[in-house]
Amino acid sequence: MNDIRTILSTGQPGQAITAKGWVRTKRDTKNAVFLELNDGSCMSSIQCVFDAATMNPELVAVLGHSGTGAAVAVSGTLVESPAAGQKIELKAEALTLIGACPQEGYPLQKKAHSLEFLREIAHLRPRTNTFGAVSRMRDEMAFATHSFFRDRHFRYVHTPIITASDAEGAGEMFQVTTLDLEAMAKSGKAPDYSKDFFGKKAMLSVSGQLNVETHCMALGRVYTFGPTFRAENSNTTRHLAEFWMIEPEMAFAELEDDMELAESYIKHLLSWALDSCAEDLAFFDKRIQPGLIAMLDGVRSKAFVHMSYTDAVKELEKTKDTFEFKPYWGCDLQTEHERFLTETLVKAPVIVTDYPKDLKAFYMRQNDDGKTVRAMDVLVPRIGEIIGGSEREYRYDKLVENMQAKGLDPASYWWYLDLRRFGSAPHAGFGLGFERLLRYVTGMENIRDVIPFPRAVKQAEF
Ligand code: 4AD
Ligand code: MG
Repeated sequence: MNDIRTILSTGQPGQAITAKGWVRTKRDTKNAVFLELNDGSCMSSIQCVFDAATMNPELVAVLGHSGTGAAVAVSGTLVESPAAGQKIELKAEALTLIGACPQEGYPLQKKAHSLEFLREIAHLRPRTNTFGAVSRMRDEMAFATHSFFRDRHFRYVHTPIITASDAEGAGEMFQVTTLDLEAMAKSGKAPDYSKDFFGKKAMLSVSGQLNVETHCMALGRVYTFGPTFRAENSNTTRHLAEFWMIEPEMAFAELEDDMELAESYIKHLLSWALDSCAEDLAFFDKRIQPGLIAMLDGVRSKAFVHMSYTDAVKELEKTKDTFEFKPYWGCDLQTEHERFLTETLVKAPVIVTDYPKDLKAFYMRQNDDGKTVRAMDVLVPRIGEIIGGSEREYRYDKLVENMQAKGLDPASYWWYLDLRRFGSAPHAGFGLGFERLLRYVTGMENIRDVIPFPRAVKQAEF
């Protein structure tokens, strides 16, 4: 392999090589021309040095067209570098211009750009240091996810994106239809879904959980990892309309097993970032979120704190004046509450359990108190909720009761209920929001900056 990452880590002085990539900067001095060449394989660029004394007119002409952004190939010999911060550089002898980059109109010149501006050129932003590092980290965290679950004998299941059931029962779904909306609006007739593509109303899935539970009751340990869609009208730095979620599900497991899995999984991801992504993490620590490395390192060596919802509300009530939304038993925890618990009170990740049943989805197992469910949310500093999960209601009658209490029609969940009729067993799982995790490990503030092409309210360019 001759990507720049390999050249920089294993290249030896005296070795003849050709490096291909995009010019980051070009600097002319009296005696030499310096090209910083980057190919995205790692954060670092390779410095290519052209000696002015040996340059022929043809090379001078090509160099003239090799400004920032141009795709080029540089051949030469590796030499020890006199410059600080790099072991080797390329003593360049030949240069091929593969793709010119006219400087006029190219938005990524040398000056630093705001993240807001870069969001408007999402097709070019992976070429910057910040978004290159985010993209590599995203890939690393996906890989670390698969390796974590594989080591624990979980099977990866692909759940559908188009669905007829509302997995969370929250009604925040995008509809999928081939009906002619304009013709219908003109005729004033109500839609006839029996004539729609699927013969019934269909939506984009908010969660793969219900589908993955079918395989949990067959393969035991499973997970799904895919895009999910929510039409929440939340224009925040924490919400996307399209986001990726990892949802493991374990048979013969209870809430304690679920919490253990969630904590081990997060720690595995942080360790992977610290041990295998040092160069990019150092960049985030220096440029994006000072203290990030020490914070992540601290989290992986400490046990997560467990706290019931009831105890959490008692703590919040002690300082209720500091909150915009006054906390009380039965209230949905707001981000300000979540952040207080994890950042101020505990100063570490917290797992809040046993929420009031009215706040949570129909599939969660009810406690014997009749008021709370075996739910757990993992809250982490800066982010708030990163994981939501629960032990599932595996008793048929109770599940039907919960559905009815929430106004859901059990008939439309018939196949899900079958799992409770035939060989039902206690099981538990959770969902980790992949982009929230990425905000946590990179220190990036806005969730739109950790997914290549964000979809949010009024945002679907590119
Ligand atoms: O808490 P949620 O809604 O749980 C579920 O969907 C369950 N079916 C999971 C399960 O038990 N299998 O969502 C899980 C996580 C949240 O904790 C959050 O990290 C993330 O998904 N999330 C979002 N991320 C970005 N944008 C949004 N609009 C999100 N909504 C939820
Ligand atoms: Mg949740």
